Amino acid sequence: MDYEVVLPAAGSGKRMGAGKNKLFLSLANKPILIHTLEIFQKDRNCTGIYLAVKPEERDYIQHLLNDYKITKVKGLPNGGKERQHSVHSCLKVMNDVEIVLVHDAARPFISQQVIDRLVETAYEKGAAIAGVRAKDTMKKVQDGIIVETVDRENLWSIQTPQAFRYELLRHAEDVAEKEGFLGTDEAMLVERLGYEIHIVESNYENIKMTTKEDLLFGEAILKNRQMQKEG
Ligand code: CTP
Ligand code: MG
Repeated sequence: MDYEVVLPAAGSGKRMGAGKNKLFLSLANKPILIHTLEIFQKDRNCTGIYLAVKPEERDYIQHLLNDYKITKVKGLPNGGKERQHSVHSCLKVMNDVEIVLVHDAARPFISQQVIDRLVETAYEKGAAIAGVRAKDTMKKVQDGIIVETVDRENLWSIQTPQAFRYELLRHAEDVAEKEGFLGTDEAMLVERLGYEIHIVESNYENIKMTTKEDLLFGEAILKNRQMQKEG
């Protein structure tokens, strides 16, 4: 089951505080961006990669792609001010795609099994996103005072990848742009048009490298995987 993937990579990594795009920081001596790209380079079902980049970082990224033999990249369009704009600019340069996956370049630990299930579900149902069950007790708070404790049974933390029939996501992104609506994930744009979106249960390793501590967690995940491999 073929698909193409959109990887927004045009952020600035403010919360990481490294003074540069966090995707260029290394985990086990390899840039975070390359860890993520290698997953899709390896997946036989992935037939194309689109990376949204900052114009001033395009040359450097092109060098990394050459050095690490990432050959599936079909487009490197300019990213936009917000993540949603970066995703949209990739969708605009794609053609003849049935299923598109959107995945944060900053999530280098997504498992092949979850990708497979997302693609399958998107083919069957049109829209599927990765998530995990909320672990903590969740409360709604206003001005520092608890308003209510929300029933955790129905709460999920949402991740990427998010998989859609291309036509559906493209339509939802076009409508959002026209209406000036800004969402925090792709599903929000599709939800507001009334479509059903399925959840694929992912795992807690699929973290987004966001703050300094995540680099420590990331190194631990890689070390653990290496140990499993060596038996
Ligand atoms: N992203 C993007 N275009 C933007 C903003 C973000 O392509 N205008 C990408 C990031 O590069 C990242 C993914 O979207 O791969 C998830 O965003 P986030 O984790 O928020 O990364 P940054 O925006 O770079 O970090 P911060 O919000 O801390 O500045
Ligand atoms: Mg951001």
